[in-house]
Amino acid sequence: MLVRLLYASRAVKGIDAALLDSILARSRANNPVIGVTGILCHSGDLFMQVLEGSRREVSGLYNAIVRDPRHADVELLSFEEIGERRFASWTMGQVNLAKVNPGTLLKYSEKPALDPFGASGKATMALLDELIATAAVAARAG
Ligand SMILES: Cc1cc2nc3c(=O)[nH]c(=O)nc-3n(C[C@H](O)[C@H](O)[C@H](O)COP(=O)(O)O)c2cc1C
Repeated sequence: MLVRLLYASRAVKGIDAALLDSILARSRANNPVIGVTGILCHSGDLFMQVLEGSRREVSGLYNAIVRDPRHADVELLSFEEIGERRFASWTMGQVNLAKVNPGTLLKYSEKPALDPFGASGKATMALLDELIATAAVAARAG
């Protein structure tokens, strides 16, 4: 059984290339082994991440991620059973939301700024779907 989970969090000491590299390297080593795919979005000190895979593996990984001291305020935005993956091509894709067209952000939110803690999980997921459709997801850091 497949599930999709979406959460948002705040980096404790801000997000820099070293932090992203370390998270993405860990994800790209570990996620294929447990069959988890998804994307990691960041903007300012905000993270948003989608994890898809078996319920057991997604739950286990989410619990490990929540305990990671490099971020805080982890808020579960959406958890659902799914028939198919949307992010199957990415062991962990990457999106720098600061580089996304403000019009795309505005389409799904009240203001042209990202606010996953204030928006519905549905709206945030719709934004992420659009990012995939517009090929804004990078397979590798850089
Ligand atoms: C925002 C964020 C996203 C993360 N995403 C993943 C992930 O997709 N896969 C993963 O294995 N670790 C991820 N991590 C790292 C985990 O929190 C944790 O460090 C890692 O699973 C520890 O693995 P280990 O105990 O096998 O070394 C993430 C950490 C943060 C802060």
